[in-house]
Amino acid sequence: MKILEVNHLTKTFGGLTAVNDVTFSIEAGEISAIIGPNGAGKTTLFNLISGFLEPTTGSVTFDGEAITGVPVATVAAKGLVRTFQLVQLFPDLTALGNVRVGSHLQSRGGVWSALLRNKRSREQAVAIDANARELLAFVGLGGRDNMGATELTYGQQRLLEVARALATKPKLLLLDEPAAGLNREETEHLAHVIGEIVKRGISVLIIEHDMSLVMKIAAKVIVIDFGKKIAEGKPEEVQQDAGVLDAYLGGVEYA
Ligand SMILES: Nc1ncnc2c1ncn2[C@@H]1O[C@H](COP(=O)(O)OP(=O)(O)O)[C@@H](O)[C@H]1O
Ligand SMILES: [Mg+2]
Repeated sequence: MKILEVNHLTKTFGGLTAVNDVTFSIEAGEISAIIGPNGAGKTTLFNLISGFLEPTTGSVTFDGEAITGVPVATVAAKGLVRTFQLVQLFPDLTALGNVRVGSHLQSRGGVWSALLRNKRSREQAVAIDANARELLAFVGLGGRDNMGATELTYGQQRLLEVARALATKPKLLLLDEPAAGLNREETEHLAHVIGEIVKRGISVLIIEHDMSLVMKIAAKVIVIDFGKKIAEGKPEEVQQDAGVLDAYLGGVEYA
């Protein structure tokens, strides 16, 4: 089953075509990856898919439903959630507080009903709390619930972002360079966490700089260069693709 279909997506900024007629689809229950040089249009593609930007032309279908031009919050509520290339946590909240924010986005009554002092919302708050603690443990931040977000190491902050995104109960999680700036050990841990996320029935689309990570975890790789899709396939196929090899041998660093 296809969880995501991107059809002839194009985005121009003034005279620049950042994303140029890109078409691909993502299977549910898999890890798929987008790679390509810096400035290739990968993050713009994520912005178009997740509703942060409206495409100039083209369409996006998520879980069988057209979501082109649908606002971010609505797209997120449908189960399509992304993280950002740069850390975007709430610095004044604890680790637990950051994950709770994700849960409130998901909970039916939203933040306001949770604040009302009735029995149902108290029960809901307890459930949100338990879920947030479970997610912190799941990503490997167990025992750090009450630490301030900014007291965490950079690698821990990246994991916290993943936990917060999971709290929204996504069907498809988009991760924008989650391993950027991580050391080898942290990257291996992240790869393990991503594998466990998929085991929970969540599909993952990852933009990744670390080629060995992509080759290890992705079932499918989409290569973007100058806004265009230049290759798509299994990691071993893409690695042997003439166009991709050309770009590599041309000294282009892929991210
Ligand atoms: N909001 C924007 N306004 C104008 N240009 C943008 C905007 N966002 C991205 N770009 C440009 O689009 C191109 C693709 O950027 P981006 O999607 O961030 O690439 P990548 O994530 O692959 O490094 C770049 O040339 C970038 O400068
Ligand atoms: Mg980017």
